[in-house]
Amino acid sequence: MIALKYIQPFSLKLDLRTGIIGPCNRYIQRRLSDMAGMYADHAGEQKALQGGDPVVYEVYQYDVPNDNGQLLIVTSVIHPGRIGQEYHMTKGHYHARRDTAEVYVGLQGQGYLLLCTEEGGSKSMPIEPGTITYIPPYWAHRTVNVGSEDFIFFGVYPADAGHDYGTIESDGFPMLLVERDGVPTLIPNPSHGRR
Ligand code: PA5
Ligand code: NI
Repeated sequence: MIALKYIQPFSLKLDLRTGIIGPCNRYIQRRLSDMAGMYADHAGEQKALQGGDPVVYEVYQYDVPNDNGQLLIVTSVIHPGRIGQEYHMTKGHYHARRDTAEVYVGLQGQGYLLLCTEEGGSKSMPIEPGTITYIPPYWAHRTVNVGSEDFIFFGVYPADAGHDYGTIESDGFPMLLVERDGVPTLIPNPSHGRR
């Protein structure tokens, strides 16, 4: 049996208002240009890129060894906005190790979680401050900011889960979350599985 790396217990500070974890040893900033082709409205995407390539979301993570048995602690901050009618969202991913789950806790703002499986399952659920969502193994997940302020959530997942972005980059999610008459509305994604 391979022994887990022995590390010391630790505590971190989470700023519940900003989502910033201190200390944080991995910070990721994703601009629209890092998500080429992921929004349905390609003309809207070009317009937003020319308008300054907005920062769509930021991630604050505390890394520990990527071993089975360890957990990663992370917060995500999705800034408000839309590309065309589609709300700002994360790239979304399956875990590279499909048999790993994840828990999210809403901290600030109004969001949605979109989920799907490779067997055709599809689900969506709102996240507001205090909502705990359980993402079971095998479900791809993407979060969306449907509000007018930052949408901030906390997450915990197995350190050896990894991220498979490629499957979502090629297939997309079954549903899109768009603004219709001021209301967040789920519509079928016409390009799902077709790219
Ligand atoms: O572990 C998670 O699922 C989250 O921390 C996400 O990685 C984070 O919200 C950013 O989304 P993505 O990894 O799809 O770019
Ligand atoms: Ni994940």
